[in-house]
Amino acid sequence: MLKIGVLASGRGSNFQAIIDEIENKNLKASIEILITDNPSAFAIERAERHNINHMFINPEDFAAKDEFFKKIADELKSRGVDLVILAGFMRIVRKPLIDAFPDRIMNIHPALLPAFPGMHGQRQALDYGVKISGCTVHFVDGGMDTGPVIIQAAVPVTSDDTEDTLSERILSFEHKIYPEAVRLFSEGRLEIKGRKVVIKNHSAVISNIVNPPIDETDA
Ligand code: GAR
Repeated sequence: MLKIGVLASGRGSNFQAIIDEIENKNLKASIEILITDNPSAFAIERAERHNINHMFINPEDFAAKDEFFKKIADELKSRGVDLVILAGFMRIVRKPLIDAFPDRIMNIHPALLPAFPGMHGQRQALDYGVKISGCTVHFVDGGMDTGPVIIQAAVPVTSDDTEDTLSERILSFEHKIYPEAVRLFSEGRLEIKGRKVVIKNHSAVISNIVNPPIDETDA
C-alpha cells in the first residue's frame, strides 16, 4: 500500500481531502506522518483527530535551508514514505528533499500553471483580469511551481469575485483533483515523459473542465 508523507504550513484542507478519500476507501494509501514548519498549523489538529503521527520541524533550528530539508527527507525516509504531498506548504522545496524523492513529490497550486505561480495565485488571477482560472497538481522539480503537470481543473472567474470567493471556488476543485492525482499515482498510472505526465488508461479519468458563465457585461 502507498505510504504518504504530508508537508503543510496551515489550514490543511487539502490534507483533509486526502484523509477523507482514504477513510472512504476511494484511495488505497496510508498517511505515515504530517510534518509542519508551523507549530500552530490547523493541519496538526486534523492529524490528531485522525490518529495520524505529526511532527513540527522548526526551520529556525537549522543554520542552512538545505539542512532543514535534509532533516525532513530523513524523517520521511525513516518511515518508508513513497510519495510526498505538499498541502499548503509555503516553502520552496530544496535539493536534499527533491533528490531523496525524485518524481515522488506532488504540490497543489491555486491557479492554472504556468500562469500565476508563487504566492496568492488567486489574487494574481483577479488582478490580471482573466475569465478562467483554476488549480493544478504537479510534480515538484525544484523551481517555483514549475514541475510536470498532472491534473488541472478550470474554474470561472466572475466580475463580482473577490479573492475570498474565487479562492473558495478554486478550493472546492483542489479537494477533487488532489486526491485524484494521488489515486492515479497509487495505481501506477502516471508516467513522466520529459515535461509531460502521461496518464495511462486516460478514459477513466473524470474531466474537471467547467465552462465559464457568460458575463452580462460582455453581452
Ligand atoms: C491551497 O489553496 C493551496 O493551493 C495553496 O495554499 C492553500 C492551502 O490550503 N498553495 C499554494 O499557494 C502553494 N503555492 P489548505 O492548507 O487548506 O490545503
